[in-house]
Parts: sequence; C-alpha cells; structure tokens
Amino acid sequence: MSNIGSYETRLRDFTWKMAEEELGYGKDGKYNLGYFCSDRICEIGNGTKVALVWEGFTGEVRRYTYDDLRIYSNSFATLLRQNGLLPGDRICVFMDRIPELYISFLGILKMGGIVQPLFSAFGEDALAMRLEDAKTKAILTTRKHLGKVRRIRSSLPELSLVIVVDAGEKPLEQGEIAFSMEKAVKNEHIQIATVGPETPSVLHYTSGTTGRPKGALHVHSSVIAQAITTKWVLDVRPDDIYWCTADPGWVTGTSYGIIGAWASGITQVVLDAGFSAHKWYAFIEKHRVTVWYSAPTAIRLLMKEGLDPVNKHDLSSLRHLASVGEPLNAEAVLWSEKAYGKPFHDSYWQTETGSIVISNYPGMKIKPGSMGKPFPGITAAILNPKTFEPINTVGTVGLIGLKPGWPSMFRMYWNNKETYDKKFQNGWYICGDRSSIDSEGYFWFVGRDDDVINTAGHLVGPFEIESALLEHPAVAESAAVGKPDPINMEVVKAFIALKPGFAKSEDLSMEIMNYIRKRLSPLAMPQEIEFVDSLPKTRSGKIMRRLLRAKEWGEEIGDISTLEND
Ligand code: PRX
Repeated sequence: MSNIGSYETRLRDFTWKMAEEELGYGKDGKYNLGYFCSDRICEIGNGTKVALVWEGFTGEVRRYTYDDLRIYSNSFATLLRQNGLLPGDRICVFMDRIPELYISFLGILKMGGIVQPLFSAFGEDALAMRLEDAKTKAILTTRKHLGKVRRIRSSLPELSLVIVVDAGEKPLEQGEIAFSMEKAVKNEHIQIATVGPETPSVLHYTSGTTGRPKGALHVHSSVIAQAITTKWVLDVRPDDIYWCTADPGWVTGTSYGIIGAWASGITQVVLDAGFSAHKWYAFIEKHRVTVWYSAPTAIRLLMKEGLDPVNKHDLSSLRHLASVGEPLNAEAVLWSEKAYGKPFHDSYWQTETGSIVISNYPGMKIKPGSMGKPFPGITAAILNPKTFEPINTVGTVGLIGLKPGWPSMFRMYWNNKETYDKKFQNGWYICGDRSSIDSEGYFWFVGRDDDVINTAGHLVGPFEIESALLEHPAVAESAAVGKPDPINMEVVKAFIALKPGFAKSEDLSMEIMNYIRKRLSPLAMPQEIEFVDSLPKTRSGKIMRRLLRAKEWGEEIGDISTLEND
C-alpha cells in the first residue's frame, strides 16, 4: 500500500492544516525550515541515522548522520553570525554537489538568512546578474569556482564576504575567508533564528521570456508542502534510500534534494559525478536505492544505452520512480516498465510552485504521456487564454491555472512586483504552460506559453542569451530559440546577423558558442548558429522569436500578426 492510499479519499479529505499538524510545524513555536531538516529529526530520536551518503567522482564515499547535519549546520550558522551576517541577508551557495553545499544550506536557514542557490556551472555574467539583483551579501564557494567570483567582485559592492570551504593552505585575498566544515569547532547547540511561517527562506532564480532572470522568493512554511508531497507523491518511507538526481542550483535539487528528503528523516544519496548509464546503475546497485527522482532527459539517455547495461546490474532495490522538469514521453514510461519493471511517474511543478502540483500517484492508474492529476490541496484548471475563465470541455487546450494559497508557493519575485502581479489573472496563478484535461481529470501537457527554452529540464531565458550575444564584437542582432532535440527535448539555437566587416564561418560559430558557454553556462550555449542577413521583426521592431521557433519545429506559422503584439 502506498503512502497516499486512495487518491480520491485524500482529495476529498485533505487540508493543508492536516499536513502542518503531521509535520508538527509551528509546535512549540518552531517554524525554522533548517530546524525541521536537522534538529527535529534528532529530537525524535533519529540523530544517529544516516542522512546523507555522498559519493564523489573518484568513488570516495562519505556519510553524515542527522547529528552531523545538525552540528555542521550549526557551525555554518555560527560562522555567518560571527562575520556580521544578519537574518534576511541573501547568502549564495555556489558549489558543485559536495556535502558542504547541502549542509550550509541548512546553516544559512538556521541563522535566519535567505539562501540563494546558484548552479555552479554558471559563468561570470550569469552569476553576476543574479548576485547583483539579489544584492547578495555573502557567497560560499570552492577553489574551483573562486576565479569566477573574483573576476566579478569589483562590480558587486554589496558582496562583503566570500567563504571558501576547501581553501587549504594557499592564501586567499582580502574579503575572503577559509572555512573547513569538518575541522571547525563543533557547536552542539546554537540559538536557531526565530522565524515565522512567512519569513523568507530560499531565493531561486528562474528565467522568463523577457527581462533578466527573476528571483522566486519562498518562505519557511514551504516545508509543509515539500514534506507531504515527498511522502505522498514520491512515496518515501522511513527505511528508504532516496536518490534525487537534480542539482540544488535548481529547485528540484532543493525542494526534494534537500528539504523534502531531510524533513522526512530519510537517508538520501548524492552522486557528484557526470552522467553515464553504467555509473548511475552501479550507484543504484551499490547504495541499494529504493526511490529515484529524476528527469526525462536522463531517462532518454538511459534508454539510448538500451537494456544491456540494465542487465549487468542488480537494480532490484528500486521501488518507486518519478520524473520532473519536462514532458515525460509515453515511450519513456513504457520503456522503464520493461527495463526496471516499474514505470516512471511524471510530476509537474515549477520554481514558483515550490512543490509538486500535478502528478501520477503511486497506486493510481498511470496514463503514459499524461502528467497526472492535481495534488490534494491544489486546485488546478485549464483556463481560456483570453478570459482566464476555466474551460470545462474535455480535450480543449488552454493555460494551466492554479488557485493561490498552498504553503510552498513563491511569495514574490525579488524586486519585481510588476512581473509577479502579471502572473495572477482572474484569481488564478498562471503557470505559463498549455495543457488539456481528459474525461478522467488527467492533465496532458502541450507546451509552454512563452519563448522560454527548456533544455534538459532546465529553463533558459532567450533574453539572457541574446543580451550576452550582443556583447560579442561580431554580433549586430540575435534571437535565441529552442529547437527540437531527441535527448534534451530542446537545445538553444541562435540566429545571428553580423556587424559589417565580419564574415560567417565555422570558426566564428565556435567562438560565439564558447563565448556564451563561458559567460552564461553550458546549458545556455547555442548548439547551432545560423547566420542571417536580418531577423524577422514586428512593425515596432520586436524580434519575432516565435516565427523562428515555429520554423524549427515545423509548425504552421499561420497569421503572424497574432504571434507578437505589435
Ligand atoms: O514548462 C514546465 C516544465 O518546466 C517548467 C518549470 O521549470 P522550473 O521552474 O525550472 O522547474 C523545474 C522543476 C520543477 C514548467 O513550467 N515542466 C516541469 N515539469 C514538467 C514540465 N513540463 C512537462 N511535464 C512536466 N512534468
């Protein structure tokens, strides 16, 4: 029997208050998310239980108990306080998937700071833009990424402290301090910052079509939704070995790779190594992983390797599989049944929703290709894109709308009320995705309602790429769109008009691609560049990205006057 039991019963009876009580949220005045992921688990008698099994790319394994999480996160909180950081300060974690990343995340929350996790593969421009926007006060990083921080530091007057968690003996520069989590004085007890359910906790940057990346601000009570969805959707149970393959630079890696896992008091495993089917299967076999939360791109890569590597490993420990981030093709669900004897369960949500809002639940009939049904406590509908009224006809495509008010919903875009306000229409939160519902209430994803590119489950904003392209000396005009890709769903393609005096060439293409990879990230790097004489524009001069995109996808272009507002 799954944790959720009967979906219909839960749908009928569930209230968020119940989830709050189940977690003991707010009991004895305790609201701090960091506390719920470490100290609380120790208080209920599980301090010696393993919380994290970490494996590095060389095969080295380290284990941390809940007591370790509690004590080491105390050390981080103390360090930050001793260095003058205050509750509400934005503190960035910018590291590969090392234990310090996961544990400092809790430490920041325990001193009342707002954690700003950023993907360690971000280049200087991507990093600077987000630190600048959040007016980040401190950043925790490693030697490997320190060069990027140093190169942008002079443009970030608010960034007063850089903490290097693996500094070793080599000297640091002014304004940088070395901190070794494992060598630091152990703090059994600290005063955990007093927060309320609505105190800001995590600031996650996400991309939109226009403008710069937006910081979605979450609050401490998000843990109520993250814990109950971990239990009911991911079906995590006390003895599970749970593996969430996402990087904490993205919301899946924090909501379910840190918060949901540890608030549930289970053992989670982390692999800090690149992808290979063999490596992943060996990891599952070695650590006896039971619950596996991954993404369609990874599943497609595994499918590409076929059944041979599957048969070479003992994957019998797996009990429940789930996926998020992009549409999960029906073939992937059917293949996983064949390969692992279990289907992947699709789940749908966003940085802004903070937790899973639509999903296929354990025990419920899976319809391969469908995202499933709304989580109990979430009211979801398909809305008419013009009136924002629910469409009640089966199979009609419209916008996914959610009734605001669940605990893990974002509370604002940092410093960007205007964009935040636009996300709400007629009393609904507009996700920005198109879908339909079938006669049994299952949601079928159709596509995004904007120009954001979803590559390997990660959103990349065209504007950010285009702005960086324009800084290249050869580029006069550019447009970035998603083009279909069999593995990553979409990859970035850039259309570029060159400045006079520059001629198109393979070398120039490569140079521009690398320029973007270095400045933004490998995900934002165009996989293809098409040089054009000029770009299609509206009468008011706006580049018609959708026209270019439609061509890549072989879609009907139709009446172009409706594609962009003139
Ligand atoms: O377009 C949808 C797609 O990813 C977007 C959210 O991206 P992000 O905020 O980065 O969060 C990703 C992980 C929660 C959505 O608006 N998306 C997410 N899950 C699915 C999906 N598209 C189709 N099917 C899904 N299951």
